[in-house]
Amino acid sequence: MELVRLINQSVSFISSLVLRCAAELQISDHIKQYGGPMPLHELARSIPIPPEKDLMLVQLMELLVHQGVYAKCEAGYQLTPTSELLLTEGSNMGTFVSFIPEVFFGKRFFTGKWFKDTDVGTVSELAYNGKQIWHVFKEKPELGNFFNEAMASQCKESVRDLVASHPDIFYGINNLVDVGGGTGTTVKVIADTFPGLRCTVFDLPNVVENAPNSDSFSVVGGDMFDNIPTADAILLKTILHDWPDEDCVRILERCKEAVESTEKNGKVIVVDMVLDAEVNDSKETETKLLFNLLLISTVGGKERTKKEWHDLIIRAGYSDYKIYPARMSLYSVIELYP
Ligand SMILES: C[S@@+](CC[C@H](N)C(=O)[O-])C[C@H]1O[C@@H](n2cnc3c(N)ncnc32)[C@H](O)[C@@H]1O
Repeated sequence: MELVRLINQSVSFISSLVLRCAAELQISDHIKQYGGPMPLHELARSIPIPPEKDLMLVQLMELLVHQGVYAKCEAGYQLTPTSELLLTEGSNMGTFVSFIPEVFFGKRFFTGKWFKDTDVGTVSELAYNGKQIWHVFKEKPELGNFFNEAMASQCKESVRDLVASHPDIFYGINNLVDVGGGTGTTVKVIADTFPGLRCTVFDLPNVVENAPNSDSFSVVGGDMFDNIPTADAILLKTILHDWPDEDCVRILERCKEAVESTEKNGKVIVVDMVLDAEVNDSKETETKLLFNLLLISTVGGKERTKKEWHDLIIRAGYSDYKIYPARMSLYSVIELYP
């Protein structure tokens, strides 16, 4: 059993690549369009792939069926709730699953050498001559756009969870700024769910210039370390996990200034993982631990425990806070009061 476990873990990167492949081939869309269990040859011709590769597609689908991504009956392959997340017309998480292996594999990710060296920075800095990933995204717009699309693609699902499971956190707010909100996917869902709530997406100028024109929200470019537009509520969704503690304190101080300067007694809404929060299933714990290592090694951030959140919030000068349990997704909501 130990041998199987060890070998399994050493080849498990294949899972990530195979998922990317399924997303790139839009297998979920093809099965959905077929309208019922889809035989292999129909799937192969519909994608299409050359007949010489049919056998490889069988093997790929075998693994994905075993892992529960797709289901299989005598008549062919079917979608599961997991593969439905890859539907282009639905959650469209394909860009996210493609981005992760594309950008992080082969970048000296978690090597023994990286661990032993004392002065090498994060893996991204190593791979990009000491530059922070956000600067790399600016210099390489293709990569930056890929990242923004990947964020938007994973965002839809988690923000739907957020508004469905915690609608009350948006009640009584007149305006909200989504700091680090990318190209506006989150604020669009929030604005459409709570008409009357004025929403703004705030991110680096090179990011917001790609936000679509929308009647639902406005767009402001800037640097969250300098100045954040004032609002009744500031949303920080999966932002603080990108940064070490010192930087988080600075960001939280800017947010506090922004909500304190309105008439309302404003608040900051953090949506991020809490490592030791109650989990709904064991995959959640493993996913949080994997993400934690991804962030530590790539951008120099981390996921945090309740105690680490407490210390950060108090250091940034907030008087109180409340952690809501994550109900449907990996993310908890933490409300911070100035
Ligand atoms: C992990 S993404 C989160 C995106 C989005 N909030 C979500 O939930 O999908 C981090 C975001 O922070 C933005 N960002 C990084 N540095 C920033 C800065 N100094 N000022 C404003 N935004 C910044 C990035 O451009 C990116 O959109």
